[in-house]
Parts: sequence; C-alpha cells; structure tokens
Amino acid sequence: MLLQLSTWQEIDAYLERSRGIIVPIGSTEQHGPNGFIGTDALCPELVARGMSEKIDVVVAPTLSIGMAQHHLAFSGSITLRPSTLMAVVRDVVRSLVRHGFERCYFLNGHGGNVATVRAAFSEVYADTSFNRHAGNEPEVRCQLGNWYDGQRVRALSKTLFGGAEGSHATPSEVSLTYYGWPDAMPEAIRNTPMAPRIAPTGPILDAADYRRRFPDGRIGSDPSLATPEAGEKLFHAAVEDAIEDYQRFLAAA
Ligand code: NI
Repeated sequence: MLLQLSTWQEIDAYLERSRGIIVPIGSTEQHGPNGFIGTDALCPELVARGMSEKIDVVVAPTLSIGMAQHHLAFSGSITLRPSTLMAVVRDVVRSLVRHGFERCYFLNGHGGNVATVRAAFSEVYADTSFNRHAGNEPEVRCQLGNWYDGQRVRALSKTLFGGAEGSHATPSEVSLTYYGWPDAMPEAIRNTPMAPRIAPTGPILDAADYRRRFPDGRIGSDPSLATPEAGEKLFHAAVEDAIEDYQRFLAAA
C-alpha cells in the first residue's frame, strides 16, 4: 500500500500487522544523453511499488532529491548537501517512529546517497542513545538497500550488458525507466549513439572536475543498449531481490 494513497486509519490498522516501511530514496541528476534526470528516483519508486503489489508493506513517498553535488555542472541537476540530506532522513525516520514504525528500509537508487544516508542512520541511533528514557522505547532500525545491488539484478545486468554496464547512466537503470515510463522518452533520443561507445571511468570529485572527466555525463557505460524489454526483466528481478532483503531485515533479531 502507498502511504500517500492511504488514510491514517489504514496506517493504524497496518501497524497492528507490521512495523516495517519502505522509503524509496533517489536523486535528481543528469543521466547521460538518453537517460531521464529523475532516473535514480524513478527506479526505486517503481521497484517499491512492485514490492507493495506482492507483499503487505507500506511505501512512503519517494525522497527524490539526494546528494548529487558532483552533477551540478549539468543543467537540471539538483542536490542537497550531505548535512541537509542527513537532516531530511533523520526527520523522516523520527516522524515514522512516532507512529510506531520500527523498521525503516530505504530502497536507494543513487550510489552518491549511500555514505550520507548511513551517517543519518547513526544520527537516528545517537538520538536514542542520548535519550535517558530510551530504555523503554521500541528499538528503531534502519537499513539501506540499493535496488541495483541484489543478486538477481547483478547477474541479469551482467548477462544483458556485460562490460557496457558501467557505474553511472547504466543501461540497466535507463532500461528500467524505459519500462516504467515507456512514452516519456522519444525513440530518437533513446537511440542516441554514444561517443566513445563506452564512457571513461575515474574518481568522482567536484562538479567542474566531473564534467571535464565525463563530458556527456556517463561513467563507464553504454546506455544506448537500454530497452524497455530489458527493463521489464530487471524490474521483476529487482522486486524479488528487494523483497528478499526487506523480509530478511524485518526478521533479523
Ligand atoms: Ni543513476
């Protein structure tokens, strides 16, 4: 069930059955010549919705703006600085905890969020540790899972795209968005020829340096291979991977 399309009574009733919630988290940043700027938010949102159709779980609104300072030399990219994103994640978790949620699973679509989101989890735990009454509070736990990191998705990406997968504006993530939003990207842009075919790789530093190293925005990838058909396969694999990881998280002692 989607939090935004639920009533408060439905959330009360859900909390009688479960204490877990999925929070999709992504980013708003350039994704090369043929990828949506919203790719990193659209992917976890799609996968989380897929999860909610298969298991009894509440999905929170997607946190669509993440830590993407290194993409700011490309038009349309929006970032939160790490400290802002930490504050956002902490406030979201504390809001949910107030209602009785105890297991917050962040389904992530952007590698640049990982360090910051994990640091935010430490802030949440510090809040509890510093509270002298915390001994009586239910234990909140947070976990981050990347939709693209599960066993099934990794294996499928390798089979489908091999050495053209790369690490930013990957054919896998671009395929997933083409599957989810089939009419939003014109065919001519989908088939943009990439030059060089496989993008360069290198370190990620500030925005100007990023643009110099990766002139069209891609890192190590050839997203011209992306298709909605591949996206459909990746979608089903990602839903299975994420359900497995979420259920393991819920069951953990
Ligand atoms: Ni991405």
